[in-house]
Amino acid sequence: MDKLLIRGGRPLNGEVLVSGAKNAALPELCAALLTAEPVTLLNVPQLQDVSTMLKLIRNMGVSAERSQDGTVRIDAGGLNTPEAPYELVKTMRASVLALGPLLARFGEATVSLPGGCAIGSRPVDQHIKGLAAMGAEIVVEHGYMIAKLPAGWTRLRGARITTDMVTVTGTENFLMAAALAEGETVLENAAQEPEISDLAEMLIAMGARIEGHGTSRIRIQGVDQLHGCTHRVVADRIEAGTFLCAVAATGGDVVLRHGRADHLDAVIEKLREAGATVQAVDGGIRVHSAGGATLKAQGFRTTEYPGFPTDMQAQFMALNCIAQGTATVTETIFENRFMHVNELVRLGARIQVDGKVAVIEGLASTSARLSGATVMATDLRASASLVIAGLVADGETVVDRIYHLDRGYDCMEAKLRGLGADIERMKA
Ligand code: UD1
Repeated sequence: MDKLLIRGGRPLNGEVLVSGAKNAALPELCAALLTAEPVTLLNVPQLQDVSTMLKLIRNMGVSAERSQDGTVRIDAGGLNTPEAPYELVKTMRASVLALGPLLARFGEATVSLPGGCAIGSRPVDQHIKGLAAMGAEIVVEHGYMIAKLPAGWTRLRGARITTDMVTVTGTENFLMAAALAEGETVLENAAQEPEISDLAEMLIAMGARIEGHGTSRIRIQGVDQLHGCTHRVVADRIEAGTFLCAVAATGGDVVLRHGRADHLDAVIEKLREAGATVQAVDGGIRVHSAGGATLKAQGFRTTEYPGFPTDMQAQFMALNCIAQGTATVTETIFENRFMHVNELVRLGARIQVDGKVAVIEGLASTSARLSGATVMATDLRASASLVIAGLVADGETVVDRIYHLDRGYDCMEAKLRGLGADIERMKA
């Protein structure tokens, strides 16, 4: 397993390019299953999760070509096996996004249950409930969701769907299924994340009729058929937010090209309160910080968009660890998303966890510092927090099991090296 070796203590300076969003690219690869015409996606990030999704759709008989420049051409004209097997689903929960499109276009789908996940149990009951409201008959057998249309039906039927909680991939599954359903679907309590809007824009470019995306009520008028399109994947706000935290922590001056400040309001506000200067500039975001002990720890609660993203909780916590003062962080979205805490503690951080709440006592209050050690990545965003901690720790930090990081960050160590970090990959 590859590891990262980081020698901490260098500021970050220069420019870095923000890649396309993982959480937009994954549903958009699935949206290509909704048509028999070719679809071209631009700005697709080079990530393990994208490779897994391409493997999943190729396994269905779809042709998908990926070029180095981030272009992916998909032709689902030959799709002949509407199935997502366990071997592929187990490594990536987002495979559940195949369910809606397959059911909408073929009237049947067999998709493995995603199973457990490090950050919580992450059930799919809402996906099933919403598609069932559109008429799908879904049974769960032998670890698979087996879905089909009732006898005599040729399409799903529009419905009013109110989920018990806001679910991002649930909203995406319903959007894709409703695009080809008969009649109107209204999604209440819909997720409002920028990735939902980006998917909706792609579906509209394919001929779908959608209104209200970006709000909590989305209306979809089903159409008979969708056609091909070319769509550019929106910039990754979580990758951008991760770099913002890294620069705030190490100190320095960096422009994030293609970064969207308007997608990161909650994080940027906290970074400003912490003492970093963050501005939207032409075509990106600029962050400037004196770093380390000049920062003030900030408390926050993770919530759905536009609140503070759960996907940024771990990275901001790394920054809090080295700041002045004490901060309380509450994780409201996932039940077990503090696994980075023990690893940060190994680097010298002072953190107490009680259920959903973590209290971080910033080291700067006592002039203490993080000190390098070997730590283990436990999930995607936890890995990023350990990298940030390693960048500011004294001495050498080795981050083990970075396959988690590779799932969701496009060339992270190369990008950090370009900004002046002393970081290298040690191949297994
Ligand atoms: C998506 C993101 C992930 C992010 C998360 C929350 C993708 C590919 N992944 O995950 O990076 O951390 O949103 O912003 O876009 N829930 C249920 N039943 C369901 C569905 C969800 O109980 O059927 C619960 C989950 O366990 C969780 C909460 O609802 O507690 C929100 O989860 P959800 O928004 O669905 O997360 P994902 O879409 O899986």
